[in-house]
Amino acid sequence: MIVTIDGPAGAGKSSAAKALAKRLGFHFLDTGAMYRAVVHAALERGVDLDDAEALEQVAASLDIQLTDDAVLVDGQDVTRVIRTQDITTATRYAADHPGIRARLVELQRAAAEGQNFVTEGRDQGSIVFPHAECKIFLTASERVRAERRYHDLTARGEQLTFEEVLEKQQQRDQRDASRPVGALIKARDAVVLDTDGMSAEEVVDRLHEIVMQHQ
Ligand code: DC
Repeated sequence: MIVTIDGPAGAGKSSAAKALAKRLGFHFLDTGAMYRAVVHAALERGVDLDDAEALEQVAASLDIQLTDDAVLVDGQDVTRVIRTQDITTATRYAADHPGIRARLVELQRAAAEGQNFVTEGRDQGSIVFPHAECKIFLTASERVRAERRYHDLTARGEQLTFEEVLEKQQQRDQRDASRPVGALIKARDAVVLDTDGMSAEEVVDRLHEIVMQHQ
């Protein structure tokens, strides 16, 4: 069974999808981490992010391993470093690149083949797994999403103001919605869950109920 969870930045998809997968005994795939990992590797190798061809070569050469807890790129643990605000902002270079998207979509389908998976991203229900048994669109208001992200980043020691986080989120929302390939759209058959005012636990409970209704 494939459960897809798509939605905008800061809707709490990663932690909710991970907890849901654990509860169901399913594997978990954080597809945003793959786009982040490509950009991180390119920066490490000194590749100009504007050089679309060089960036695609980096994506093609990488061995990306996603376990339930860690992201390994060519054996290096990049789990934490790919979450910084700098990588978050630069990830658009990989996400906007149709060739890189095609490669990562291939890897995502191969990973989930014949297994029970909860996958999380922007295009999982619409493009990557159009026949998924259960599709969820997880969202929350702009302000609540920015507040959650601000708390996450400052807890990790990053120095930035709430207004900066909100502004960057608005830019990302705009890009996610307008990307020619892989834009964030709700699949026609997705169930919408707005998490404003819900605790993390309530979100996972509700997601679990939705999955049960689709089994
Ligand atoms: O979910 P996230 O914040 O880790 O995603 C990082 C970026 O990657 C985000 O700007 C959108 C993009 N992304 C995408 O285009 N397609 C996906 N399936 C997942 C993420």
